[in-house]
Amino acid sequence: MKQIFFILLLISSLLSKELILPVEESPKVDIKKALLGKKLFFDTRLSQDNSISCASCHDLSKGGDDNRQFSLGIHDQIGELNAPTVFNSKYNFVQFWDGRARNLKEQAIQPIHNPIEMGSSMPEVVKKLSQDEKYQKLFLEVYAGPITQEHILDAIVEFENALITPNAPFDLYLKGDKTALTQEEKEGFELFKSFGCISCHNGRNLGGNLFQKVGVIKPVEQYKDKYLGRYNVTQKEEDKYYYKVPTLRNVEKTAPYLHSGSYTTLKETVSFMMNHQLGIQPDDETLSKIEAFLKTLTGNRPQILEMD
Ligand code: HEC
Ligand code: HEC
Repeated sequence: MKQIFFILLLISSLLSKELILPVEESPKVDIKKALLGKKLFFDTRLSQDNSISCASCHDLSKGGDDNRQFSLGIHDQIGELNAPTVFNSKYNFVQFWDGRARNLKEQAIQPIHNPIEMGSSMPEVVKKLSQDEKYQKLFLEVYAGPITQEHILDAIVEFENALITPNAPFDLYLKGDKTALTQEEKEGFELFKSFGCISCHNGRNLGGNLFQKVGVIKPVEQYKDKYLGRYNVTQKEEDKYYYKVPTLRNVEKTAPYLHSGSYTTLKETVSFMMNHQLGIQPDDETLSKIEAFLKTLTGNRPQILEMD
């Protein structure tokens, strides 16, 4: 009996601490590659009609997303998914809501080819950029070679590797500064653990390391037969309504929320989570505390954004 109690205690202490880790303070990146990647990230020539860049949908002056319910691609075409943040995305175990890209390199090519996003192709992009002498010089300097698909994607990924938002108050707290959180924020973290949010939102990104079903306890009526998530990749019935658990880092800046962009406030979103994932009807005090905790996950802007 005592042994079981001890094991439970051990598990819960593991859950409360080691399951969440701070992000790197200064991620190791090749600065030259990352700065070239930064130029590419902001370059509208990656789209068919030179109107859209990665930054159009991933605004780095805000939360790394576009603050729209659904993203706007070329010719004002509207997608069916809410854009996730690109900040700290290197920590995700796979990319996209349905996890169809295994890493950032596999991811980066997709919006370029997506007809409702950038509507172009890699050969087209290589051709356009090759007409720019400044780029030719830069690629030669950084890659000792010409402008190729491989080099373009590599540079973009290196830039994304630098898009880490360090020293959020919660990270300072994790590193031992007990004054980094207020009493209310600490209570919010305690609730986050005791309600079991942490069983899905954990790891460095408080998310991004597993697929989970939405509607575990209570199915979500408005999701019925809409975007099916992981099922689109595996075609397995049991994967319907499974999505990559999103990161909660910088979440106060990334409204609207969920893949469906259904809610504009954190309180509504947390209430949705509690209802559908945990079967709990929260009161306002509980929501305020969890919201206060979530706001401590806002980190500093990545250093690479101040460099050129
Ligand atoms: C038209 C808007 C749009 C453009 C342009 C765009 N994205 Fe995205 N991005 C999205 C949307 C929407 C998703 C989610 C799509 C999905 O999950 O299927 C996404 C997902 C991502 C993800 C995955 C994040 C995660 O947590 O899963 C990364 C990384 C990313 N984009 C980087 C880029 C890069 C790099 C570019 C430029 C080459 C780019 N995006 C261009 C809208 C856009
Ligand atoms: C069973 C796993 C699970 C549990 C438990 C869970 N979540 Fe989630 N959470 C998810 C998934 C999956 C999504 C994406 C849902 C979607 O797109 O419809 C999500 C989305 C969110 C979002 C929106 C993030 C964004 O950028 O769109 C917030 C905020 C959130 N959860 C907070 C919480 C809180 C707070 C709790 C505890 C009260 C909690 N979650 C419990 C799996 C879970």
